[in-house]
Amino acid sequence: MVKHFIDIADFSAEQLKGIIADAKAIKARPDDFNEVLKGKKIAMIFEKPSTRTRISFEVGIIELGGSPIVLSAADMQLGHGETVADTAKVLSRFVDCIMIRANSHDTVLELAANATIPVINALTDRSHPCQIMADILSFEEHKGDMAGKHIAWFGDGNNVTASWIEAAAKFDFKLTIASPEELDPDADILQAAIAAGGDIKIERDPNKAAKDADCVVTDCWVSMGDKDAVNRHNLLAPYQVDQNVMKLAHKDAIFMHCLPAHRGEEVVPEVIDGPQSVVFDGAENRLHAQKAIMKYLFD
Ligand code: CP
Ligand code: NVA
Repeated sequence: MVKHFIDIADFSAEQLKGIIADAKAIKARPDDFNEVLKGKKIAMIFEKPSTRTRISFEVGIIELGGSPIVLSAADMQLGHGETVADTAKVLSRFVDCIMIRANSHDTVLELAANATIPVINALTDRSHPCQIMADILSFEEHKGDMAGKHIAWFGDGNNVTASWIEAAAKFDFKLTIASPEELDPDADILQAAIAAGGDIKIERDPNKAAKDADCVVTDCWVSMGDKDAVNRHNLLAPYQVDQNVMKLAHKDAIFMHCLPAHRGEEVVPEVIDGPQSVVFDGAENRLHAQKAIMKYLFD
């Protein structure tokens, strides 16, 4: 049975916690894991831009002993009419794994359905599971076990929110989402996570959402591929993370952001560049978390 890494909801809590435990071990002793991908070739396909994902995967593959092949979809026949299914079948003959950042989540699902090798979701319009595995690692390094903690999400109910929602049901933390109604997270993902036991609430009042939070997290107001930026800015302005929001959270709360950030929009410089911010630890942890994900896929 080929393993894929497409969404947090596809895994048991034990599997996800096992990947986080491996990420901690890999971060502590990277040299013990330098043959995990020995002889393996990993294709990395990008339909959208990337800094962290591209570099952390490429470095991670090299450090695990494998060989990355970085591909822009625009330079492949995939970007010029070849089907996703044919691409999956052809790549399966050449490489051992495909990582893809895709415009549409369906592309990742179709790739996985037609590939005979593992497929990794490196962000779609629906979700960003690799990001959330790194965020869990970062949170636990700073604040201890996720279980029972309170995460307050501020802003757009986007792909990153969706993966936080799925994680809440697996790692037993409380998630409060402060978003305007027009930009609520995907209702199906939310309902499924609540049905799976997730303690997740939508809170329109940003002052109430931050109360007692152990972590305040946000993301850009206009994701790659989003339209209508002006309207989004107007809707999201009340959900900016500023010093007042951080004061309402626990006094030792941390601030997280997947980056890239837009200072003065979703977060003020005083917060993202202030003492509670762990955003660069978070960026580094993409490397360690994704190495553990790839180890899981080939174990
Ligand atoms: N956080 C994240 O996925 O960053 P990139 O878009 O730079 O890969
Ligand atoms: N929500 C953002 C995340 C970027 C890493 C986007 O999809 O553009």
